Amino acid sequence: MSYYVTTPIYYVNAQPHLGHAYTTIAADVLARHMRQRGEDVFFLTGTDEHGEPVALAAEAEGVSPKELADRNAARFEALMPRIEATNDFFIRTSDPRHTEAVRELMVRIHEAGHIYKGEYEGLYCPRCADFKTAQEVGPGDTCPVHGIELTVEKEENWFFRLSAFQEDLERLFDEQPDFVRPPERRNEALSFIRSGLRDISCSRSGLTWGVPVPWDESQVFYVWFDALLNYVTALRFAREGEDLTSQYWPAAVQLIGKDILKFHAVYWPAILMAAGLDVPRSLIVHGYLLMDGEKMSKSLGNVLDPFEVMDRFGADALRFYLMREVQFGADGTVSTEGFETRYSTELANDFGNLASRTVAMVERWRDGNTPAVAHDPVIEAELSGVAAEVAAFLDAVEPTNALEAIWKRIRRLNRYVEETAPWVLAKDEAESQRLDQVLATLIEGVRVVTVALHAFIPVSTGTLIAALGEDDLSWRAATWRPVGTGSKVGPLAPLFPKP
Ligand code: ME8
Ligand code: MG
Repeated sequence: MSYYVTTPIYYVNAQPHLGHAYTTIAADVLARHMRQRGEDVFFLTGTDEHGEPVALAAEAEGVSPKELADRNAARFEALMPRIEATNDFFIRTSDPRHTEAVRELMVRIHEAGHIYKGEYEGLYCPRCADFKTAQEVGPGDTCPVHGIELTVEKEENWFFRLSAFQEDLERLFDEQPDFVRPPERRNEALSFIRSGLRDISCSRSGLTWGVPVPWDESQVFYVWFDALLNYVTALRFAREGEDLTSQYWPAAVQLIGKDILKFHAVYWPAILMAAGLDVPRSLIVHGYLLMDGEKMSKSLGNVLDPFEVMDRFGADALRFYLMREVQFGADGTVSTEGFETRYSTELANDFGNLASRTVAMVERWRDGNTPAVAHDPVIEAELSGVAAEVAAFLDAVEPTNALEAIWKRIRRLNRYVEETAPWVLAKDEAESQRLDQVLATLIEGVRVVTVALHAFIPVSTGTLIAALGEDDLSWRAATWRPVGTGSKVGPLAPLFPKP
């Protein structure tokens, strides 16, 4: 079975911030890990360029929506290699191949009888491009996401018969209890469905920045229809001359933040059903990165610039920090001080120093040759399970737990150094065989955690595996080997120097 993983496509109304890097890094960890396991992976990210959120921002800046979209899409695209994201494609919804595919799919949905002309009045958030239901409205008729006042909007346009999918959606949640994870988010979506679904408008009349409705060119599609469909349209043109749809759809994992749960857990499966397409295998919902107690967002202005962070600490450190500091699925606070602490205590001390010491000891006492002797069974017992544990956590999309499983082993290896005190053994000829065993065991331990960590911190693990005289970073290599290979190690510069 193939493994298609997606991130939301990000609005180009502003520059990328840490929240966007966060979801993309999580998706990249999954993509890299599954490639290590030899799976057929396709990883998609991109930008959401149409609709009111972008049109409004362009107006405020006095530029055309297209100009703003081009400028910011380039910044999002540039973010990907900087965070070491290995996306197989970057979709822009302004791509004519996407807009054509949206028109075709929407015609299909229209012809199947799921779209009609109607009228609607309600409280509307232009930043969300969303009519809010009674339960969703914040105090004083404000948007719970953006904190701005909602406006009463009335419109006559095309409607999607969401209400007709009520039972199908309830059945989906019932038959596929893991469709939305974690369970709190599943329950939230399910109770929204059970509270009774109303039809939603799928076009806008007062807007020109969007995909024209083929059967009524005076209107453009509502941006969420255009945007959600990216996950399937991209497969049609991501690879020149190929249609990858049957190879990769349905997606294995669609990652989102909890701000866009309703669109993905309710609207999206209904749209897919209406188009006669399969629903994704799972929708994984993470929490908010908070700063100063509030959701980091461009509207609130409390954002950390990922480029700045990486200039100081590097991409690996950013990736590690985000996957480690905030329990994936929950909200969590991030800060510059938090970065510095994790960087120096865990990356530089726990892992970096373990690697440096281990390599340096083999260089010093064994001329850089890993002793080809049997490893210490005590350490083998505690490290050999790591590959299976990490794989299980990543199957469940629990990257924070996967990292903890690895860190447990790193801490164990550090204790092993203290317990065995190789510098004492080195002074005693009679302990030469024991020193051989300790050094070989440490090299093996470092090698195993390096392979296991590769999906999280690809740059430093790439450097380290070479310094261990190895090159295999496939998942097979995460298995403990009982006997030293005799590999030639070193040299190794500090992996995480002081910034
Ligand atoms: O909603 N904490 O785009 P968007 C964690 N275009 N994740 C965050 C975050 C934070 N503080 N801020 C943003 C849109 N994110 C639509 C999506 S999909 C068909 C269309 C991440 O630019 C998180 O993944 O507002 C969130 O869901 C997404 O960015 C919203 O990005
Ligand atoms: Mg947003």
